[in-house]
Parts: sequence; C-alpha cells; structure tokens
Amino acid sequence: MKTADRVIVALDFAERDKVVALLDKLPELSFVKVGMELFYSEGPGLVTMLKDRGLQVFVDLKIHDIPNTAHKAIEALSRLGCDMLNVHCAGGLEMMRRAREALSGQTKLIGVTILTSIDQRTMNSQLGIPGTIEACVLNYAAMAKAAGLHGVVCSPHEVQALKSHLGKDFLAVTPGVRPAGSAAGDQRRSMTPAEAITAGSDYLVIGRPITANPDPGAAFAEILREIEVVM
Ligand code: C5P
Repeated sequence: MKTADRVIVALDFAERDKVVALLDKLPELSFVKVGMELFYSEGPGLVTMLKDRGLQVFVDLKIHDIPNTAHKAIEALSRLGCDMLNVHCAGGLEMMRRAREALSGQTKLIGVTILTSIDQRTMNSQLGIPGTIEACVLNYAAMAKAAGLHGVVCSPHEVQALKSHLGKDFLAVTPGVRPAGSAAGDQRRSMTPAEAITAGSDYLVIGRPITANPDPGAAFAEILREIEVVM
C-alpha cells in the first residue's frame, strides 16, 4: 500500500461543490470517506462521481438494524462500487453475518466497535456496558471476525490489543487521529498519525485536521510525511 492509501479523508460536508473544491486541493488523495451528512444530502450519485475520479470510497453509514434490513442496505451500497462499508457490532452476530453475505465485488465490511467520542465513564453509566472500553472493543471485534467481517473501526488506543488477539490481517480502521497541536473537537481517545500507524492501524480516518485547515493540501502533505517516517 502506498502512503496515501492509509489516510482516509472524511468528507464531512453537505454540498458536492465543497467536496469538489477540497478534492482539487488534494492531488495526492487516494481514499475518501462519505459520511451520513454528505450521503443523505447528495445521495448515491456522489459516490459514483468519486469513483469516476479514481478514488477509493468508504461509505460510513454505520448500519444498525434487523439482519434482513442490514443485508438489503449493504447489498445496495456494495453494488454502488464502494470499497469500504460498515455496520455497528452492537447489532449482533447474526446481523453482521447477513450483512457480510450481501457484499459484492471488492467491498470490505468493517464493524464499528465503541465510538471514539465515548469514554469509559459514558460507556459504563449511559450505555450500560460494564468493564473497560478495551474489553468491550475486543469482544465486539471477536464477534465481527466470527461473522466474517474484514476488520473493525476502533480508537488507535485499542489497536495493539486488537492485533495481538485477532491477528495482523484483521483490519484496524482508526478515527480519533489528531496531529500534534490540532484541536481535539469531540474526539476523546485520540493519537497522532505517527503514533496510530506505529500502534498498527491499517487506515487512519482524518477529517477536520485537514478539511477545516486553511491550507488542506499542506495539512494532508504533512500527515503523509509524518507517517512515511514510521511505515
Ligand atoms: O473530523 P474528525 O477527524 O474527528 O473526523 C472523524 C470522522 O470519523 C468523522 O467522519 C466521524 O463520523 C468518523 N468516526 C469517528 N469515530 C468512529 C467512527 C467514525 O470519529 N468510531
């Protein structure tokens, strides 16, 4: 994999024009993420436009529904030519299995474990899940692997444990990445790009540190330089 393939830039915008303006500033870009805001605003045609520009596309809709509905949703999205899709592990083993069966082509299916905006106190007291975040992430990830998923979304802090329990080929996709000195925003369990790659992350998902930077091209290039050193 080349360096740019490891950085998935989150296109968290509502309008196609803003996406195109950003893409024009990031000539080295290889992999993008379309989240709920953009997908619900612009629809499947936006994904086709990104594929036509030669980009790999992760459509991050975090599907969580009954197994049959999850299956149909993943079937429709995979048919669009998406490279990566995700479902919530909290939907359970059967939902993940049915979603996995719906994949076509090259699409990889990733399980969402505990969101990187959730800390342990919130997980215990609000979600009602006892124990540590790491234990919960490992439990969800083991279930995702049993269901045949290709990997999970987790915080960079859980990657080392994930790889040692489930093997290095089980993908770790990590948001919650913040270059030194950039605003944490609502992320609670973050690491720098170099730290996340060193911990074993396969893909870094990075949004605002690039998209909200006055010079997104320079911010992206700096991140690539930073991780190249440790790859
Ligand atoms: O701007 P920022 O770098 O925080 O963007 C991170 C992206 O990753 C957002 O699009 C967010 O929806 C997504 N994400 C996340 N935590 C997860 C799963 C996805 O932050 N567990």
